[in-house]
Amino acid sequence: MAQRAHWKSKAGFILAAAGSAVGLGNIWKFPYETGENGGGIFVIVYLLCVLLVGLPVMTAEILLGRAAQCSPVGAMRKLAGRRSGWVIFGWLGVASSFLILSYYSVVAGWSLHYTWLAAKGGINGLGTEATKAIYMELFGNPWLNVGWHFVFMAMTMAVVAAGVSRGVERWSIILMPALFIMLGGLLIRAMTLDGFGPAMDFVFGFHAEDFGRRGVLEALGQAFFSLSLGMGAILTYGSYLKKEDDIMSAAVTISALDTVIAIAAAMVLFPIIFSHGMEPAAGPGLVFITIPVAISQLPAGSFLMMIFFALLVVAALTSAISMLEVATSYFVDERSWPRTKATLVAGGAITLVGIPSALSGSVWFFGSSMVSVIGMNWFDALGYLTNNFMLPLGGLGIALFTAWRLNDAIRHDHFLSGTKLGVFYRAWLFLLKFVVPVAIVFVFLDSIGMLRAN
Ligand code: TRP
Repeated sequence: MAQRAHWKSKAGFILAAAGSAVGLGNIWKFPYETGENGGGIFVIVYLLCVLLVGLPVMTAEILLGRAAQCSPVGAMRKLAGRRSGWVIFGWLGVASSFLILSYYSVVAGWSLHYTWLAAKGGINGLGTEATKAIYMELFGNPWLNVGWHFVFMAMTMAVVAAGVSRGVERWSIILMPALFIMLGGLLIRAMTLDGFGPAMDFVFGFHAEDFGRRGVLEALGQAFFSLSLGMGAILTYGSYLKKEDDIMSAAVTISALDTVIAIAAAMVLFPIIFSHGMEPAAGPGLVFITIPVAISQLPAGSFLMMIFFALLVVAALTSAISMLEVATSYFVDERSWPRTKATLVAGGAITLVGIPSALSGSVWFFGSSMVSVIGMNWFDALGYLTNNFMLPLGGLGIALFTAWRLNDAIRHDHFLSGTKLGVFYRAWLFLLKFVVPVAIVFVFLDSIGMLRAN
């Protein structure tokens, strides 16, 4: 039996896990949701969700991984018993990461395309209409979509194939500081803009009239998604930890980094948008239309634009690496395949499954024909399925298993080893047993429309 791979340093693990958490969600979802839901109030509720729901689940995922020294399927087999029904949650994790990466890579591909356009100066100084046309052209072009999707998957596979410490850890140590520097640079620039004041009011001012139950549920869902919980990615990274490492303080650091970066992204986006009197948009429209238009009117706009899209690529890449690691480690741990073969098979399959997403804007079958039947194209349908069903279910399984079923001695031992935060054991267990499951069930019922009575 080959020795199991481990992280070389604690910082390496933390940067890799933070890389998983910090992704497109931090940059295009958090800022918008904050502005929509009453600014400062939403931020406070979001912080509470991270503290009371996100942090306990993250601690549980790391703990399960480290205790089992195995990726999700093997971890559940080891800790629950080979034939136990809990193993389904391991499979669910592998399936979610597989499906999410297949469409995540398409959006990451768009970011690569825009980085390239910005480097050539091709989107500079255009108005809203022309920038929108560029986006629609890209979305409707099968070759560009599939091509960039392949390029991005190849980058992800190259990192994962190189191994846990020589690939994932090494690249996280390079890419995450690069991300902090790029974001920091943009933030300093944003602070000197006229729109900074109004933007701060939009993001941090208390606008109680815009806040309601919707805001609470969105904060909870976003905290979960943003911390990469519920699909075994953090569990898999935790499985490369050694026994001495302190789980809870790692979970605190990772959650804090993810949250700081989401807030910083909001402090970058809105000043740029408000300085040009534009309206904040949501999702792809925000980063691929509004931002290019606004940023290109600044001095050195094309340079700033290149930095912005490179930032998106880096954020997406470190998240993609962790998703591919879940599927790859299944073949390595359960089938004893060499890592290169495991990466090629897992990554190759994900690349193929991503093709319909890449064609959702151009090929009738995956686009309009599906829209006419289920109201969504393939790309949106996958996002809907994974975010609303698979992730909450996975998170619920992990919380319930850790709190109600995991062997008490294993749980207690792993929580306490190497930590100064042992006093939080009871609080953690309480949150995991009661608060987390109730919260997840609420978000789930809401997302499938069962709470929208009025
Ligand atoms: N956290 C990522 C983001 O903010 C998205 C994500 C959700 C993710 N689940 C994941 C990334 C699992 C990696 C692994 O964009």
